[in-house]
Amino acid sequence: MSDQANRVWRLTARPESDRIDDALELETEAVPSAPEGGLLVRNIYLSIDPTHRIWMSEIDQYMDPVEIGEPMRGGTIGVVNRSNAEGFSPGDIVACQGGWQDYVAISAKMVRRIDRASNLPLSAYMGPLGNIGATAYFGLFEIARPRPGETVVVSAAAGAVGSLVGQMAKIMGCRVVGTAGSPEKCAWLVDDLGFDAAINYKDGDLIKALRETCPGGIDVYFDNVGGAMLNAVLTLINLNARIVVCGLISTYNDLEQGGDGPAMFRNVLMKRATIQGFIVSDFLRRYPEAFAAIGQWLETRLLQYRVDIRQGLENAPDVLKLLFTGDHSGKLIVQVSEEP
Ligand SMILES: NC(=O)c1ccc[n+]([C@@H]2O[C@H](COP(=O)([O-])OP(=O)(O)OC[C@H]3O[C@@H](n4cnc5c(N)ncnc54)[C@H](OP(=O)(O)O)[C@@H]3O)[C@@H](O)[C@H]2O)c1
Repeated sequence: MSDQANRVWRLTARPESDRIDDALELETEAVPSAPEGGLLVRNIYLSIDPTHRIWMSEIDQYMDPVEIGEPMRGGTIGVVNRSNAEGFSPGDIVACQGGWQDYVAISAKMVRRIDRASNLPLSAYMGPLGNIGATAYFGLFEIARPRPGETVVVSAAAGAVGSLVGQMAKIMGCRVVGTAGSPEKCAWLVDDLGFDAAINYKDGDLIKALRETCPGGIDVYFDNVGGAMLNAVLTLINLNARIVVCGLISTYNDLEQGGDGPAMFRNVLMKRATIQGFIVSDFLRRYPEAFAAIGQWLETRLLQYRVDIRQGLENAPDVLKLLFTGDHSGKLIVQVSEEP
């Protein structure tokens, strides 16, 4: 990376299915200036998230899609390079939507200062102490509201959000079953994170495995996946079950098609279940509450997490694909430049 040039991944087309390479181009441009009242920030870490695939599409979604020709949107942690904003100085560390690029010129109102109060690595602020942690916290405690002793199933359980959700449910005194896509991930959930059971959903009959691991039925389902997984869980829900729709990653490469709903949707009626979607940014004002609790759990080792840092902005599209194959271990991040 040079401080004379800004490499920018721009969206050049709407991708078809998983062919995101056809939709992105890396361009080299001049480094922008810090705007009046704003900052020039050098991106250090770029968060790679399933929702990037949603933003690339033009379906009706929870925020505006990225327009053709725009820099690809993405959450970042960076260091202030130049400041025209009161209260910010070069060297300050901030989180913002810095995008898939080396530098971002941004209003100071659009950044969150990171005060590193602990010995945790900076990347933790993109995992448990960032949107990921807030998603797990508010999705579980505000939407699902599990009670001690209840059975909680979480999908994509070895992923960034799922692994935190399962551990938080254990902290609440729940029985927790996770689903994940490999024996290694399942072993990590049970042996290291303390899940009661884990199911490799690629291996055998999912409904049978859920029946065996949830003999008392399912009270809470934290869904990161949708599709066949949601259908299997609906088959086994208990009276007054709560289903939290956090994500539907199994559908993201097929968004334009819409897709069919789950065949067992009738159990929402039969079991008087509640099914609720949420978007973490709705809870933005309450993030400090989540980070205070999560910070304590990290300190006391009640909560563990993994980050998977891949090098180089130029590799961002290939890294995004890993979310859909599952070939990563924890919160997926691209390192754009060195930490100061
Ligand atoms: N609502 C919100 O505000 C919000 C905020 C953040 C994230 N989310 C959602 O939360 C979910 C998890 O996000 P994350 O960032 O923590 O990603 P992640 O779980 O770290 O990575 C995604 C994982 O999904 C699994 N997966 C991919 N395709 C799948 C398929 N077809 N069937 C089943 N599993 C599949 C893979 O794990 P396996 O190896 O186990 O297959 C992969 O590792 C996503 O759906 C995301 O959109 C929602």
